[in-house]
Amino acid sequence: MSRTFSIIKPDATKRNITGAINKIIEDNNLMIIAQKRIQLSKEKAEGFYSIHKNKPFFNDLIQYMTSGPVIVQVLHGENAVQVYRKIMGATNPENAENGTIRKLYALNIQENSVHGSDSDENAITEINYFFDDSEIII
Ligand code: CMP
Repeated sequence: MSRTFSIIKPDATKRNITGAINKIIEDNNLMIIAQKRIQLSKEKAEGFYSIHKNKPFFNDLIQYMTSGPVIVQVLHGENAVQVYRKIMGATNPENAENGTIRKLYALNIQENSVHGSDSDENAITEINYFFDDSEIII
């Protein structure tokens, strides 16, 4: 069993489809063991995405991620990182497989509804960026 970190992004909270996304998560044997709805500050979003700070889309990304509430989550299950990446689908919804969250719900490469960690190591870092151990309950 392992964990991954997830964000349901502003395009999804604005369209009131967080439950639909959580159903896909749970239908694929991932358990939501922590979850909170928050408004990201510019500083918190910039820190989270610091790896992208030199990318041309960085400023737009921060603007978008702070444009409304997000749901941050810890997901638990067998191969959680890989399972969640598979059910999210490709970053660009045009390339995402049928049935994936991004194919179903993403609006474009930026407003792509969800984020998921890309490795077990990053999952730990990202979980710790948003959650105290006491908030994660199995
Ligand atoms: P995410 O998986 O959260 O990681 C970085 C985010 O930047 C990505 O999802 C998108 O929301 C956003 N983004 C915007 N443009 C691009 C791009 N050209 N390539 C990758 N990510 C992008």
